[in-house]
Amino acid sequence: MGDMARMRNIVVLTGAGISAESGIDTFRGGGGLWEQHRVEDVATPEAFARDPELVQRFYDMRRAAVQTKQPNAAHHALARLEAEWRGELLIVTQNVDDLHERAGASGVLHMHGTHLNAWCTGCDARHRWTGTLIEKPPCPECGEASLRPDVVWFGEMPYEMERIYAALRGADLFVSIGTSGAVYPAAGFVQDASQLGARTLELNLERSQGSHWFDESRQGPATQLVPRWVEEMLAG
Ligand code: OAD
Repeated sequence: MGDMARMRNIVVLTGAGISAESGIDTFRGGGGLWEQHRVEDVATPEAFARDPELVQRFYDMRRAAVQTKQPNAAHHALARLEAEWRGELLIVTQNVDDLHERAGASGVLHMHGTHLNAWCTGCDARHRWTGTLIEKPPCPECGEASLRPDVVWFGEMPYEMERIYAALRGADLFVSIGTSGAVYPAAGFVQDASQLGARTLELNLERSQGSHWFDESRQGPATQLVPRWVEEMLAG
């Protein structure tokens, strides 16, 4: 990587590609989730207003599915880096699964929310939720039947943006793992980070849409690239 001795603060952005080898579908590309479902039907506030049952059924299935999957070598390697890195490390994920946490990472920012929370639109409470929502269960806080998936839909504001930009401002290295670079604002983090002076590295199965913005791009499966990169960082 070069200049490793001077690197202290790292921001890692992950996307669906890091969970692909755990058996969770990515969104784009052959067999991707957005090939089987139209975004406008299941992942917008308008879709939820129009057909809440369809949307709840879709997320109930996804919530059940992620609980049958296990973290892979890439999630474990990042958790190890978080534990052993001498400087700051922030993991920002676009993923709504909990595989980073189950691999042992603790400070993960879920900018697109999480399958394992239900959010009450009545009282704004969030509850850990492993079951279904289609039967309109009452909110444990206020009793209203107004729970929705705590997932950021298209047209909604991603979570934690202030903390993410603060971390990017202090970053020496920005690493993007398993994301196609198709969805903003996450797709713009590489440009933000490099304008703010960070080195930038992409680890992805193929070159992403924004690949040319990175100082370095490595292609391959996350379960191989990520453990190798973590070894390099901890050895340096
Ligand atoms: P995408 O499905 O758009 O992209 C996944 C990327 O991972 C692609 O570039 C693949 O080449 C790569 N990939 C696939 N398998 C891999 C592997 N084994 N190892 C490494 N890379 C691999 O998923 P995201 O970029 O995460 O948003 O999508 C971003 C957002 O779009 C999602 O958070 C979701 C979606 O619509 C919302 O739902 C708000």
